[in-house]
This record gives sequence, structure tokens and C-alpha cells, in this order.
Amino acid sequence: MKAPGLTVKEFARRRRRLAQSLGSDTIVVMPAATEQLRNRDVEYPFRQDSDFLYLTGFPEAEAVAVLVPGREAGEYVLFCRDRDPDMETWNGRRAGPEGAVSDYGADCAFPIGDIDEILPGLMENRSTLCAPFGRSEALDQRLFGWVNQVRAKVRSGVRAPREFVALEHHLHEQRLFKQPAELRMMRYAATISAGAHIRAMQACRPGLHEYAIEAELLHEFRRHGTEPAYHSIVGGGENGCILHYVENRAPLRSGDLLLIDAGCEYQGYASDITRTFPVSGRFSPAQKEAYELVLEAQRAAIAKVVPGNHWNDPHDAAVGVLTRGLKGLGVLKGTPAQLIRSEAYKPYYMHRTGHWLGLDVHDVGDYRVGEAWRLLEPGMVMTVEPGLYFGPRTQAPKRFRDIGIRIEDDVAVVAGGHEILSDGCPRTVAEIESCMAGDALAPARGP
Ligand code: GLY
Ligand code: MN
Ligand code: MN
Repeated sequence: MKAPGLTVKEFARRRRRLAQSLGSDTIVVMPAATEQLRNRDVEYPFRQDSDFLYLTGFPEAEAVAVLVPGREAGEYVLFCRDRDPDMETWNGRRAGPEGAVSDYGADCAFPIGDIDEILPGLMENRSTLCAPFGRSEALDQRLFGWVNQVRAKVRSGVRAPREFVALEHHLHEQRLFKQPAELRMMRYAATISAGAHIRAMQACRPGLHEYAIEAELLHEFRRHGTEPAYHSIVGGGENGCILHYVENRAPLRSGDLLLIDAGCEYQGYASDITRTFPVSGRFSPAQKEAYELVLEAQRAAIAKVVPGNHWNDPHDAAVGVLTRGLKGLGVLKGTPAQLIRSEAYKPYYMHRTGHWLGLDVHDVGDYRVGEAWRLLEPGMVMTVEPGLYFGPRTQAPKRFRDIGIRIEDDVAVVAGGHEILSDGCPRTVAEIESCMAGDALAPARGP
């Protein structure tokens, strides 16, 4: 699969679409992410703010994007760090204002140090200021500082913005619907992640530690130029029952299952896949029973990912299958309807069946419209991730003890149905056992 990319035109289309939904009397101010200290003078790897990335594609910190619809001298203004040979020698290349225009599609660009002087002028006579209000006190102060600079000029006939609109309200609705170019990015990320899970299955041996398997995942992510979209969860045995287990340092034991929840991020676009497989390569009868049940729940949930169904339909389908199955396994007693009503399944299935997926792993977008669950529409992408967890505090029969299973795939809503973006990853018992045995028919790794 050829590595896809996004063009400068794609980002321009996004900015135009946002401007159209806001109206021509608005100014949008959107800052980049800031560098974060990890310890003393060591920084975390820089990750651009997803909203900023979506609108600009600009990869640097210390930048502010401004959209001024209808402005003759340029509608898209970018403030960014100046070129600086000394700083670039120490800390890496910068686009500078020239590069912001030539490589990133800004109509005009200025050094970030000039923003206090220039931005209030751009706000003049705009009635609405749209910005990520409330994200940080420091940002709110700066935004209202700039507004106050305009207000100070009212006696010279200048109008200051008087309506303040949360950027997220408009932008997140737009981000929820993935364009074809974005789906290509997400398909690519999911394909790399599927390859990483295959690599992990094939490397797994009793006696290795969880971190050794994490290393296999990272190797596969990095060799394709991607990074983890979130900290990989690699939990053997009972650790698979800890939903956000990230210690990843226990030895792997024969007879246990290994739960891996890991996905890469490709140019900002996340994938999010979970697979659960036996450390030794063969499911025990009890593991197989529980696994088949989660798989059936996932199939039922994925079948509900269809335009016109609502957000909660896949979850309801998964809960129905899991509850009936838990009764069949002798774990729950009662009628399925009553067990669902009383949420008797919750000690074994305590999370929801999915979330939106995109530039953020738990992506933006409303799940309800008013009181009602949102209807699914083409372009939305979600995870479907049912699970069953027989952790130490549960009352399940002994043979299920320490079994933690989740199966998670990335699913796009398309006209008339859905597309499983992560379909290249072994999912059935037979596919997993064959992949772990290194059979010739096992799926190929990576894109
Ligand atoms: N990896 C986080 C999640 O599955 O939601
Ligand atoms: Mn997920
Ligand atoms: Mn996950």
C-alpha cells in the first residue's frame, strides 16, 4: 500500500468549510500546542494540537493560525517562529514565515513575536471571535488582552468583537466527518497497526516479558515512520483485566492469554486495535469459549454500524450477546432482559463498545443530539471493542479465572454499510492460531 499524504489544497478546503459554517464576520484564532517538559530540561516528543493540525498541517510549536474570511490582503494568516540559524543548529529546522507561505499555504505569515502588534488589527470590525476558549487560562488572558486592545480604539470608530464562540463547537462537528483523503490516512494507519499485532503474535513466547512484545509493536510502528497513538497496553493473564494497564513489565506465562491494545498514528491519524491471543499459541477450551463469545458480540456490534442506526445500537447489540453468553457459560443467572436491565453484565463488561476515532484516538464529535443518540452517517469512524474480563474480584467459575479478552477494530461508516479499516489483523481463533504458528497462509505483515 502506497503511503498516502495530504495536500496543501486539502487543508485549504478545511479552512474554507469552517469559514463557511462561521460566516464572514468572524475571525478565528487557533494556537499550536506548546512543548511540554518531561523532566528537568527534557521535553516530551512534540505532538501538534489536533485542531491546529487539522486546519493547518503546520508541525511546529509557538505558532498561531488566524482565519479572517474575506480579508483582501489574505484570509489565512500564520504567526510562527522566525528562522534562526543558531536555534536551528541546536533544536531543528523551522519553516519561518517564508516557509509558512511557500510550503504550508498561508496567505501571509509573520514572526510570532509580532503577534501582539498585528493580531488586534486583524480583529477590528469583526463581530465574532471564534477561538478555543477555556483551554488554558493563559490563552484566555491573551485572547481577551487582544480584544481589549481593539476596545481601547472604539472612539476612533473601530468595532471590537462582541460575540465569543467556542471553536470546538464548529470544528469538531467538521472533524467528525472524515473526507476520502482522511480515510486513506486512517486505512494506512490501521494497516500498519494490523502488521504490528501480527508481528507481536509471531514473536510471542512463554518466558518473554510484556515489554519485549511492546518492543515488537514499536519496531513495526517506527519502521513505517509512525508512532504510537497512545501508550500500548500489553497485559498477560490477569493484567489483561486491567483496562488501562501500561506497566508492561511482567513475564508471560504459558497457559495465559495476552491482551494487546496498540495502534499507531500516521501523520496525526490514529488507529486503535486490540487483539487477545494465547501466549503459547493455542487457546484452552475455556479461553476459546470466552473468546468466541466476545467475537460474536463484536460481529453483532459491527453489523449495526450502518447509516441510519444510532450511536448506541452497536453497544446494545454487544451487551445483548455478552449477557446471553454469560448466562450460557453459567456466569449469570436470570432472564436476559432482566440481566440487561439490571446491568448484571457490568462486573465482566464495564466499558462502552467504542468511541469516535480520528486525529485523536478518542476523537471529537458529539455522541448525542439533544437527548437522542446520534444517527450514524457516512464519514464517521468509530472503534468497536467489546470485551469480557474475569478479573480477581469477579465471581466467575474457576476455569475462567484471569481471562481478560477484548477485540477492537476500527470501522468507518460508508454508504449502505461499513468498512473495517483494520480488517488485515487476524481475528478468529483459527486465524490467530495459524498466524502464531507462522503458517504460510497467515496474513502478510505491514502495508
Ligand atoms: N486504546 C484506548 C481505547 O481502546 O479506547
Ligand atoms: Mn478504543
Ligand atoms: Mn484500544
